[in-house]
Amino acid sequence: MLAVLYPVVRYVIPPASAESAARSVALDLAADEIEPNTGQIFRFGTAPGILVRTPAGELRAFSAVCTHLACTVQYRPDLSHIWCACHNGHFDLNGINIAGPHPRPLDSYSVKVGDRRIVVSKGD
Ligand code: FES
Repeated sequence: MLAVLYPVVRYVIPPASAESAARSVALDLAADEIEPNTGQIFRFGTAPGILVRTPAGELRAFSAVCTHLACTVQYRPDLSHIWCACHNGHFDLNGINIAGPHPRPLDSYSVKVGDRRIVVSKGD
C-alpha cells in the first residue's frame, strides 16, 4: 500500500525547489555589451529566465517559463517581443500575453545594472 501511495503523495506535494528559494541572480554580463532588440536565457535557480534589451535600449527580465504549459519562451528580434514556440504564444515587452493560449503574463523581475554585472531579482 505504501509503495502505491508514496509516489502519489510526492506528485501531489512536490518538494521545495531551489528555484523557489532563489530571490536574485547575478549575471556575468556587461550591460553595454548587450545589443538592443535581443534577448537571452539565463538560469534563475532551477528555472529559466529571459533578459531582454528592448529596441529602445531598456533592460527587462522575466520568467522564461511560459504561463500556458511551461515551455521556455524566447526573444524574437523580427517581432520585437517574446514568443513561445510550443503553441505560438506571444508576450509583449512588459511580459503581457498578447496572443496565443497562455492564461496570464510572464512573471517579471527587477533588473539592476552594476559594474560588469547585472542583478535580476524577484519581487522588487
Ligand atoms: S506552452 Fe507556451 S504557448 Fe503553450
